[in-house]
Amino acid sequence: MWTIFTDKVRKAFTDAADQYDILTSLHKEIGRELVKKTARLDAARILDVGCGTGYVANKAKFFFPESAIVGLDLSEGMLGKARQLHEGIPIDWVQADAQALPFKAETFDLLLSSLAYQWAEDLSAAFQEAYRILRPGAVFNITLFGGRTCEELFLSLTANNPQFKARSLPGVDQTREALGRAGFGHVDIDFELIKIEFKNVFELLQWLKAIGANTTDLDTIFLGKQMLARVDEYYHKHFPYNAGICASFEVIWAYAQK
Ligand SMILES: C[S@@+](CC[C@H](N)C(=O)[O-])C[C@H]1O[C@@H](n2cnc3c(N)ncnc32)[C@H](O)[C@@H]1O
Repeated sequence: MWTIFTDKVRKAFTDAADQYDILTSLHKEIGRELVKKTARLDAARILDVGCGTGYVANKAKFFFPESAIVGLDLSEGMLGKARQLHEGIPIDWVQADAQALPFKAETFDLLLSSLAYQWAEDLSAAFQEAYRILRPGAVFNITLFGGRTCEELFLSLTANNPQFKARSLPGVDQTREALGRAGFGHVDIDFELIKIEFKNVFELLQWLKAIGANTTDLDTIFLGKQMLARVDEYYHKHFPYNAGICASFEVIWAYAQK
């Protein structure tokens, strides 16, 4: 169940900034693939939206040493970490919301973004902003977590708490529609389902919190000890994986052109 509130997202990622890099090998693997996909393009100005601690922006600088790179994020904590980790590398770090980009129309040749757009309260508005600041012919190349992400957790919560109503992250169709509404053409969308093993529900919830991904309705329901124990038992029974449990992460890959 994922209802998005931008202020909560900002705070959660600021709280997570210090430990984020140690815990996110999945994010790095996806970010590296994302940048590689566009590495042969000719792009003088590149924007990384939701740059977090700057992994994608820094990789972009490696592939495009002559280009001007901007890393943009909502969270001052994540940007502070990005500045620290990539000190001396000529990347501009900007604090702003993807739904209101502080740039003139037609400024960038390439927009990269990895695992950030699922946090936009209004995906269409965010894509419209992306469209506005891209030059005609520019490329939009992103990943985002899709609707099946953590589906086992939400099923286990719903089964043990009838008031818990699951609401999904954007899926492939919603992403395609939002891109079309924003005006993008040549849209190419793909997805993959990645399964990760955790010891139990407690470990999964701790991990989600530690990487800043706890800004969902998860934090608005009361998960007492007994309830959590029931959810954990249900999860182990229905979604076992080796000696632990399995959590799915749907990653949507979207590539489009203005
Ligand atoms: C899961 S992290 C991904 C960070 C980085 N792209 C990576 O792959 O490691 C999501 C990032 O998106 C940022 N974010 C969330 N909502 C945003 C918004 N509306 N505008 C800008 N950044 C946002 C968060 O602050 C966080 O740093």
